[in-house]
Amino acid sequence: MTEQRTTPAQDGSAPDSPGASERPVRVNAWNGWDPLRHVIVGRAEGTVVQAPEHAVRRDYPDDGFPLGTYGPMPADMVAEADQQLDDFADMLRRRGIRVDRPTPVDFTKEVSTPEWTHESMFGCMPPRDLLLTVGNEVLEATMSYRSRWFEYLCYRPVLQDLFDADPRMRWEAAPKPRLTDASYKAGFWDTYNELPTDVQLARVRDYDLVLTEAEPLFDAADVARFGKDLFVQLSFVTNRSGYDWLRRHFPDHRVHAVTSTNTHPLHIDATWVPLRPGLVLHCGERLADAELMEFFKLNDWEIVEAVQPASWDHPPKLSFCSPWLAGNMLNLDANTLCVEENEVRLAEQLSSYGFEIVPVPFRAVGPFGGGLHCATVDIERDGGLEDYFPRRYGRF
Ligand code: ARG
Repeated sequence: MTEQRTTPAQDGSAPDSPGASERPVRVNAWNGWDPLRHVIVGRAEGTVVQAPEHAVRRDYPDDGFPLGTYGPMPADMVAEADQQLDDFADMLRRRGIRVDRPTPVDFTKEVSTPEWTHESMFGCMPPRDLLLTVGNEVLEATMSYRSRWFEYLCYRPVLQDLFDADPRMRWEAAPKPRLTDASYKAGFWDTYNELPTDVQLARVRDYDLVLTEAEPLFDAADVARFGKDLFVQLSFVTNRSGYDWLRRHFPDHRVHAVTSTNTHPLHIDATWVPLRPGLVLHCGERLADAELMEFFKLNDWEIVEAVQPASWDHPPKLSFCSPWLAGNMLNLDANTLCVEENEVRLAEQLSSYGFEIVPVPFRAVGPFGGGLHCATVDIERDGGLEDYFPRRYGRF
C-alpha cells in the first residue's frame, strides 16, 4: 500500500526516500515540535481568487482582480509556487520524511448545497487550514467560507490511504456546516476595514466579527497544539461555537479560547507560534491577552517577540497574508526550524536561541494561502502526549 502513496508523475516531486517508505504508516502528532516523520505538503495548482461571499471578499484592483471579479490565479505565479512547494517536499524527503500531496479538483466550478450556490472554490495549498492532527486522529475542520466547503475532497485520497495503512488511525470530520446567511453578520465587510483600530481591537476582544453563533465553525489553523493544551483562536473563520465543539470533542485535553491584539485574526500560526517546550514566538504587533501571557510565564515558558519581518515593505501580489507570515515556520524537531529564506533577521534571532535554521525559498507560495506552516500538516511526529503546563492561572 505504501508504494501507491506517492505520485511523483502527478506532483512533479520525487518519491519518498527508501527509509521513509519502508516504515509503517503511523498517525501520531501531539504538538508542533517533536521530530517530524510524515507530513502533507499542499499544492498551488488550480488555485482561484474566490468570488465574493459573506465571509470574505477579495479586492485587488492593482493586481487584476478588483472587488467582484474572480478566477484562476495567474499561470506564472502558479508555476513558481508549485516549483517551490515541490522543492520543499523534495528537501523533506531527502531528510527521510514521508511526504503526501493533495489532489486538486476543478476549483473554478460553481458549487452548491440545497441551501446556497457559490461561483467558485479556492484551492489546496494550505492543508493546515483544513486538517488537524491530534494524536492518532486527523480531524477535518468545518471551514466557514462557502468557497472552501468542498476543499476536503482534495485530501480524501490521502486520508483514505492513511486510514487503510494505519489500523489505529482515527478519521474524524466535524459537522459539515450549513453556511446559510444566518451564519454571517450581514454587511460586515462593508464597514469593518474602515473602523478605527481601537474599535476593531474591541470587536476582536469581545468577539464580534463576521461569523454569528448559528452553528459551530472553525478552521484547523486556528488551533495551536501544545500537548495536553490546545489553544483555539477566535477569528474571522472560527466562532465560539466552533471552539465549544472542539472543547467537547477533545475531553482529555484542556482546550482554551484565545484572542490577541490582531485587528484581522485569521489562523493562529503567524501570531502565537510554539517553537519547543518552554519557548513560544509571538508576533510583536499581536500581543496575546494578559492572562494567557501570565499563564505561560507561570509555567516557565519564555515568550519571544519576533523581529520585524523582511517582507514588511514588499507585500506580494494577490496575497491576503500579512508580513507576519514570516513566523509561519515548520519545525523538523525541537532544534530545527524551516524558515522562509528571505527572513534573515528572524533566522538570526532564532539561531541565538540555539535553533538550526533550514532556509526554504517560499515567497512565491504566500499568495496561495500562507507560509511553511500553512502549507503543511504533520501526520507523524515522534513522542507522546505530555503536559507542558502543570500550573493553572486565571481562566486557564
Ligand atoms: N493570517 C495570518 C497573517 O496574515 C497568516 C496565517 C496563515 N495561516 C494559514 N494556516 N493559512 O498574519
